[in-house]
Amino acid sequence: MEVQDRLAQKKKVIDKELGRILSHEDSLLFQAMRHAVLSGGKRFRPLLTLSSGECFGLGQDVLLPFACGLELIHNYSLIHDDLPLMDNDDFRRGQPSCHKAFGEDIALLAGDSLLTLAFELLAQAPVDERLFPKKGQIIEEIGHLAGASGMVGGQLMDITLSPEKISEEELHELILKKTGALIIASVKTGAILGEASTAQLEAMVEYGRNIGIAFQIRDDILDTNNEEKKEPTPRPNYVSLCGLAEAERRLKRFVEDGMRALDKTSLESEELRYLALRLLDINRNENEQNS
Ligand code: IPE
Ligand code: IPE
Ligand code: MG
Repeated sequence: MEVQDRLAQKKKVIDKELGRILSHEDSLLFQAMRHAVLSGGKRFRPLLTLSSGECFGLGQDVLLPFACGLELIHNYSLIHDDLPLMDNDDFRRGQPSCHKAFGEDIALLAGDSLLTLAFELLAQAPVDERLFPKKGQIIEEIGHLAGASGMVGGQLMDITLSPEKISEEELHELILKKTGALIIASVKTGAILGEASTAQLEAMVEYGRNIGIAFQIRDDILDTNNEEKKEPTPRPNYVSLCGLAEAERRLKRFVEDGMRALDKTSLESEELRYLALRLLDINRNENEQNS
């Protein structure tokens, strides 16, 4: 099967599992959670987990709960990011954002519930007894990378640093935390569970760091190009920092550096390469349902 078909199939598996996980209750809270999670989305992070784990011979039976846990965390962060007291965005994935559809109070709680549900799912993930320590390590890593030293810390920088005055170093740190941290966690999850060697794990993290930055540069380019996607609240943006042409050059460079990191692993990583290269396609339809 071609690489894009394999990824499309994985995306279907992820979507189905997320639907199953969120189907147990019909409370207003779960309706809001389903609205947020099942409204589309590229599933970039869970795809990274499935593809990186597969590089080490792991199957979807082991990887899927981790992949879905990461996607739930990502979706909680989007609900909160769109709230009026954050980016104040009325739309997400072409649909009313969670608070527009359910109110700010329910949206806040839906985000909280997705975050806690994610850790419940991670803790319940069935793995061989031999992998128990690895599972503990992953849950700790995900908590760390999603929290104050990672994604939440990045969000803090996003709302507190002035878009006009931010330095290049600050913007890189911001991006690495806000977006890179969860992307790194997604790749690391597959590698740790797959019992990667230290050198392989380092190379995978280097890949994650580079495509994490590339991912946000692409998002910033899209925000600049697309009037509808423009953040209603001005935030630090890569294009404002260095201009469109330079942002595009750097996007390419980070993708190349990410690919080069994979070369060091001597692993079969066609899907990870494809996911990285796809970031260069700026015109790709964001709401595309196939991988
Ligand atoms: C959007 O993430 C927020 C960023 C971190 C840039 P995605 O672009 O992964 O959003 P979905 O999940 O595909 O909608
Ligand atoms: C959102 O970043 C990052 C997190 C939710 C952690 P952005 O604010 O740049 O992403 P969009 O443009 O709202 O998707
Ligand atoms: Mg936003």
